[in-house]
Amino acid sequence: MEHERTLGDGEDLVIEMRKISKQFSGVLANDEVDFTLKRGEIHALLGENGAGKSTLMNILYGLYSSDGGEILLNGEKKEFSSPNQAIQNRIGMIHQHFMLIPTLTVVENVALGLKDQRFYRLNLKKVEKRIMELSELYGLAINPWARVGELSVGEQQRVEILKVLYRDAQVLIMDEPTAVLTPNEVTELFIVLRDITKRGNSIIFISHKLWEVMEISDRVTVLRDGRRIETVETSLTTREKLAEMMVGREVILQYDHPPVRVGAPILQLEDVHCADDKGLEVLRSLSFSVCAGEVVGIAGVDGNGQKELAEVVHGLRHVDFGKIFFNREEITNKKPRQIIARGLAHIPEDRHSTAIVMDFSVTENLTLMNFDSPPFTTYGMRHSRVCTEYAQRMSDLYDIRGGGVTEEIRNLSGGNQQKVVIARELDRNPDLLIAAQPSRGLDIGATEFIQKQLIAERTKGKAVLLISTDLDEVLAVSDRVLIIYKGEIMKEIIPSQASFEEIGLAMAGVRD
Ligand SMILES: Nc1ncnc2c1ncn2[C@@H]1O[C@H](COP(=O)(O)OP(=O)(O)OP(=O)(O)O)[C@@H](O)[C@H]1O
Ligand SMILES: [Mg+2]
Repeated sequence: MEHERTLGDGEDLVIEMRKISKQFSGVLANDEVDFTLKRGEIHALLGENGAGKSTLMNILYGLYSSDGGEILLNGEKKEFSSPNQAIQNRIGMIHQHFMLIPTLTVVENVALGLKDQRFYRLNLKKVEKRIMELSELYGLAINPWARVGELSVGEQQRVEILKVLYRDAQVLIMDEPTAVLTPNEVTELFIVLRDITKRGNSIIFISHKLWEVMEISDRVTVLRDGRRIETVETSLTTREKLAEMMVGREVILQYDHPPVRVGAPILQLEDVHCADDKGLEVLRSLSFSVCAGEVVGIAGVDGNGQKELAEVVHGLRHVDFGKIFFNREEITNKKPRQIIARGLAHIPEDRHSTAIVMDFSVTENLTLMNFDSPPFTTYGMRHSRVCTEYAQRMSDLYDIRGGGVTEEIRNLSGGNQQKVVIARELDRNPDLLIAAQPSRGLDIGATEFIQKQLIAERTKGKAVLLISTDLDEVLAVSDRVLIIYKGEIMKEIIPSQASFEEIGLAMAGVRD
């Protein structure tokens, strides 16, 4: 494809980043990184959590200023001191965490910040027209007058893409765009991305999923510890080679399940019904149990009641009908605090809004659930040294990197923030662990570690409820898998005895 073109004269390069360096208090996030982007290419950026991917892209987008190095756009030296300048130079970015305003409509979100919006109301019609044209052109179906907060994650991402296309971007930076998408949505997104590059625009694509990188990209650049390790043509490499470049060793995501005697039921749901945020019934007659010594996986397409299932068990959502038992005691509609005290740990899907406090340090976030009890506090006295030592130990154990335990968690990379939540919840030695999308956003080394931990918990005799839309993960980790569809269990399978086709049909709601 684009590979045959000659390089070096700068003609085909849209972006050239030369020797980019960026230091944060104590962390060299980018160390003389070279990066080039060709016209019409999809260039993947790979690296472990904290390797410096988001930082490099934030520099290109004008969010951070670099400490050294230079950026050339179409062969011309440029400096962007704000995203606005980057946008004016036709560079767009879709962040790891969306930046849309949920209470506004699609049209309003796209119009936000446009320069020619002086006659705001009048021009919204024009904006709508253009959105519809673009949506048609790129196959990005959307209702322009829907409120963004009511859209699914996949649809919200379409709005982000439309926003960038609306501004006529020639370079589209996508920071882990697939992390929150279902397999079908990923397929749809890839069609859109190919379309965008066919029109001569270029894309920088960040992902931890190697098969995605292999499928969608033309070239790959691997970062490790802030340095560029290599840039390779995708067609000349393999998943295994990329994994090795990233972590410096071979990674095999295949696990043993040492035999354990399955014990008493720890969690039991009986005919549970509940409504979603819009008041529509989302769990319908849900019944199942999880016993001590087993991982029960919940598989299914996102939005079939998974989120609400975790919430009713945690006491965060009202159960309208039916009963929930934890260690044989009824906990239906009890307060979260009471349920947690009985031995529940929960790694929630939406970690940003529910599991961490952005302004708190790593130490404070690690001790969030029990800061007021021993050993962290005795007789009303908080022992900061004990907290720090504990946080240090957890950071080593879970490989939490970036800035140290006193750093505000907002300054950690996406994956490292996640590791903080996982470390805290696993260390509470729960009877029941609910893990929702536990490896979302984690690099392959961290994914392997976390998945092994889930199995280790179960081998210790704990009950683990794994909720994941990643079928590979559910099948690799679970002892039993329940397939959920529209708030009901469609089917139960044993991972070693089922085919992908069979599971796919059940996920689509087809009964045998
Ligand atoms: N604003 C900031 N203040 C302090 N340190 C920061 C800041 N932003 C990033 N860092 C640090 O720079 C390093 C690189 O972070 P970056 O977010 O670029 O990683 P990443 O490759 O995107 O990782 P992930 O896959 O987890 O998203 C990390 O050690 C991180 O803690
Ligand atoms: Mg990142």
